[in-house]
Amino acid sequence: MTDKILLSSFPFDEDKEVEVSLRPRYLREFIGQKKIKETLSIILEAARGRSECLDHLLFCGPPGLGKTTMATIIANELNARVKITSGPALERAGDLAAILTSLEEGDILFIDEIHRLSRTVEEILYPALEDYKLDIIIGRGPSARTLRLYLSPFTLIGATTRPGLLTAPLRDRFGQTIRFDFYSSEELKEVVLRSAQILKIPVTEGGALEIARRSRGTPRVANRLLRRVRDYAQVKKGGLVDEQVASEALDFYEVDEKGLDALDRKILLTLIEKFHCKPVGLNTLAVSVGEDPQTIEDVYEPYLLQLGLVHRTPRGRVPTELAFEHLGLKKKGTLF
Ligand SMILES: Nc1ncnc2c1ncn2[C@@H]1O[C@H](COP(=O)(O)OP(=O)(O)O)[C@@H](O)[C@H]1O
Ligand SMILES: [Mg+2]
Repeated sequence: MTDKILLSSFPFDEDKEVEVSLRPRYLREFIGQKKIKETLSIILEAARGRSECLDHLLFCGPPGLGKTTMATIIANELNARVKITSGPALERAGDLAAILTSLEEGDILFIDEIHRLSRTVEEILYPALEDYKLDIIIGRGPSARTLRLYLSPFTLIGATTRPGLLTAPLRDRFGQTIRFDFYSSEELKEVVLRSAQILKIPVTEGGALEIARRSRGTPRVANRLLRRVRDYAQVKKGGLVDEQVASEALDFYEVDEKGLDALDRKILLTLIEKFHCKPVGLNTLAVSVGEDPQTIEDVYEPYLLQLGLVHRTPRGRVPTELAFEHLGLKKKGTLF
């Protein structure tokens, strides 16, 4: 599940609890992603006007950008109930059938990591999404028969870090795909200021911006760094988080000016020094840096690609000139 992936890469497990308290509850509280908010408010308004269920929605994008938050916001905006589950949690067809039959009209079903649904579970989902019906096979062999159940109209919101892994029939059943992008530093500054207010952390605008700049475009990371910087400020600096303190604290935690952590740098160094800039496959890279391939692909790589530090070629990953610059290394003509 997402949690497992995130915990293995970012070893702070208090995230879960704090996240719930920091979650914006309504569209107007959701910072940034202007286009998404505009699109969704039109969809919401239209559905409200027609008193109809919302079309099924697919949310894509790297972890921590607000997909789960947005699903709960949509439920709040519609005064609807939301049920939250995930692809890997729905192991058997019966697991999904139990949830689907418990839904009431207008409910929202949120399936995180929807690309990890098993084939059999996914097939149950198709008629449920299309006609709100469920065909269950009872018994085995010659005496088996199909029982058709009719479901209450509901809305599915699927979330995925890997839209490319969705099967075409599943993708086709969503009315709209919403892509979440990395946030700007200004937007993340707002996220930090908002969270600081909720958590009662004294922070200056400069302090918030410094944390924002090093948060790899991700609200979840911004909230986490804010808490780490708070600890540092409290123990070493008397509490106030200003630009100087934030910068010192983040240096201490080895988060550099671009927001890269020790593993990001290890990935770059491995590509440069160990593989001499030749294309490297995901699994080889993962083994070399001692991290799970999926975590590298979902959490680390998108940001390194976004910054232009790594390039993906058909034969594997290669470091760019910028990676050399960032690490303060010289590209030696003889070696590379
Ligand atoms: N646009 C936003 N404004 C404010 N906080 C946000 C925003 N997006 C995400 N967050 C915060 O970041 C955390 C992670 O968001 P989440 O919705 O769990 O991400 P995802 O489901 O995409 O992994 C949440 O606790 C939420 O408080
Ligand atoms: Mg989520």
